[in-house]
Amino acid sequence: MSKVSSTRVKAVDSIEMNMGRQRFVNNHDSKSIPSSSDPECVPPSGHVEEIANTYEKKCEEDDDDKPAVQTSLRKGNQSAQVSLSVLLDTELSGIKEAGTWKAERIITSKQAAEINVLGYDSKILNFCSNNYLGLLNHPEVIAAVKASLDTHGAGLSSTRYISGTQDIHKELERKVAKFHDREDAILYSSCYDANTGFFEVLLNDQDAVISDALNHASIIDGIRLCKSKKYRYAHGNMIELESQLKESQGCRMRLIVTEGVFGMDGTVAKLREICDLAEKYNALVFMDECHATGFFGHTGRGTEEHCGIMGRVHFINSSLGKALGGASGGYTTGSKQIVDLLRQRSRPYLFSTTVAPPLVAIANKVFEILSKNSDLPEKVKRNTHRFRERMTKAGFTLINM
Ligand SMILES: Cc1ncc(COP(=O)(O)O)c(C=O)c1O
Repeated sequence: MSKVSSTRVKAVDSIEMNMGRQRFVNNHDSKSIPSSSDPECVPPSGHVEEIANTYEKKCEEDDDDKPAVQTSLRKGNQSAQVSLSVLLDTELSGIKEAGTWKAERIITSKQAAEINVLGYDSKILNFCSNNYLGLLNHPEVIAAVKASLDTHGAGLSSTRYISGTQDIHKELERKVAKFHDREDAILYSSCYDANTGFFEVLLNDQDAVISDALNHASIIDGIRLCKSKKYRYAHGNMIELESQLKESQGCRMRLIVTEGVFGMDGTVAKLREICDLAEKYNALVFMDECHATGFFGHTGRGTEEHCGIMGRVHFINSSLGKALGGASGGYTTGSKQIVDLLRQRSRPYLFSTTVAPPLVAIANKVFEILSKNSDLPEKVKRNTHRFRERMTKAGFTLINM
């Protein structure tokens, strides 16, 4: 690691950085952390907000149309507008006072391991995107997306069932199912949509869903939409899971819901135990594989492969917006019956515009690359080992050691 890179890594110790989904924290005392006056130090997040504000101000100045929009708003119901403004102001200041304001860095290069960021003179090392396989700018992926624009156009301006299904969408669904060794798959605009569109289709008020406490917001939102009984077990706690399985035995159907690799902390689900408990209590298992598909497990097949239990999970949802090309899109894969039912009833699938052809072309190419060999997942594994080893030597404590 170069001098600049290692300084940067030290300087961003307050940020959660994920490498192979293992979060690390700095063990150094604060004296060893470079101050913001250090010329090589990445400025603290307050500085990021300042850069973003300056940028937005400049865009506003350059934007001739904006005042007209605001004027027309001002001509409307003024008292409602004033009340709204007071309310929003209170909300916004509350977020700032709570210290949870999220300022966005503006990247001026391609997304990659090294990026250019507005307000910084030198390149920045980027540890926090989900471009696990480095496929975002892969030449074959870029060539495929360019070609797809000529053959299949930029978009479909329709939902799938009205006039929005192309041959490449069907091809991708077949590839997804094959990759996971399932009967069928269904595409969504994102895994957020796949998660919010799943549970209410399968479960009703006679059923129960039993969910890990650290599951992603989109899973939580999807579960909120269904009418089933809801249980939540402490993260990875198999004793609580078992007791909730016992408690819900009177229900028509029980669904255990977990991430494979948890996006927040990088912990891996105890999938073998979960599947054993599911079998013992006649329950089903749903798994979100956003942070596993494509690179986790020997050939990138994910958490089932890592745990040596291929095929035991009933439903898998995953994202095309992370390792699998990183553009956007998501899917559910499982039996033909569940996919058929989702196509008929899943609201984000039915009532949202078809995934754009260029995004489909990216994912088709990525699955083609992944099915050739396991070079990429193996490279991620090697890099992760190397990174963890060096970070540990540098005094960081890593989760899951
Ligand atoms: C575990 C998990 N599930 C679902 C999603 C949503 O995926 P997408 O970005 O495809 O909507 C994310 C994205 O951050 C995630 O981390």
